[in-house]
Amino acid sequence: ESSKSIRLKKIHADAAQLYHHILINTEIGEEALNYLHERGLSDDIINDFNLGYAPDRPILEAFFKERMVDQELLRMSGLFVERGDGTLNDRFRNRVLFPIRDAQGATIAFSGRLLQKNDKLPKYLNSPETELFNKRKILFNFDKAKSEIRKKHFGILFEGFMDVLAAYRSGVKNGIASMGTSLTNEQIYLLERTTDELFLCYDGDKPGQNATARALELLEPITKLKLGVIRIPEKLDPDEYVKKYGENAFEKLALTSHETKLAFYMRYFQAERNLANEEDQLAYISDVMQKLAGVESPVEQDLYLNQIANRFSLEKDSLKLQLLEFINKTK
Ligand code: UTP
Ligand code: MN
Ligand code: MN
Ligand code: MN
Ligand code: MN
Repeated sequence: ESSKSIRLKKIHADAAQLYHHILINTEIGEEALNYLHERGLSDDIINDFNLGYAPDRPILEAFFKERMVDQELLRMSGLFVERGDGTLNDRFRNRVLFPIRDAQGATIAFSGRLLQKNDKLPKYLNSPETELFNKRKILFNFDKAKSEIRKKHFGILFEGFMDVLAAYRSGVKNGIASMGTSLTNEQIYLLERTTDELFLCYDGDKPGQNATARALELLEPITKLKLGVIRIPEKLDPDEYVKKYGENAFEKLALTSHETKLAFYMRYFQAERNLANEEDQLAYISDVMQKLAGVESPVEQDLYLNQIANRFSLEKDSLKLQLLEFINKTK
């Protein structure tokens, strides 16, 4: 490991401690601390994840100057933006900070959330790509989650930081998140070395469900991970679900309400259709059969063939014919 990256990690560790200290011990951090408490995060979780607060005025440059840290290194850290005159200004201002750690647990970047909605600023602001931080290679919380993923034999992929934390406080500690993007090959590789099964637990809203369908399609051809879905009802996201129904309810959901890919698609394709209408029915059956054609296990195929035949009062033989057609088309 280069001395540069060691020094950049030290900068991140020190910054994380400072931001954490401001959050939990100072008056400047009080509003942010209240915000996190109101969102259901206890002091234990805040400590476990070393959450912090970046105040509204610049503090970092003076802090590091006092510690004789080289300006050039600060510039490379991603924690600053350059002013017009070349001086350094803190990148994160008036945001709650989530340290982002590498697989070994070293803090290498931050994501900051606004306390209040502001149409002019992004809700979450991430560190830029740096020598330490390659967004494609990092899964949020992988360092903490990996042993639990091994133990449980599956990982759960969430959309957001708050969802991972909500799961964690519900006792579901095998949760990870990619940072606002779809999974990359590098992230899949990390997971494949750790487990053989992955559940997607995206937001229950339309964008989250669309993202689930897209992720399944994207992942299927490139991974040997078995894929499934954990469905969050009522268009909630996992964090909102925990808030509404409690930690125990979420833990139960995460352990039991596992859908196969096909069960997900059967629900998903139904969403904007009126199945009392025959045209919609036929389009729906066709969509589902197309997905069923990609299912390898004959038993699984048979299971869903029976379901569809019963549900729409169809002959299983005609469904089988259609299925064969789709299978031949994809070959
Ligand atoms: P969401 O909009 O679902 O946010 O985006 P959230 O996770 O529910 O956050 P809270 O509950 O409002 O705090 C999902 C994820 O997309 C990324 C973040 O990683 C976020 O957790 N994102 C979202 C960004 O990177 N930037 C944004 O401005 C918004
Ligand atoms: Mn296993
Ligand atoms: Mn969302
Ligand atoms: Mn969300
Ligand atoms: Mn949320």
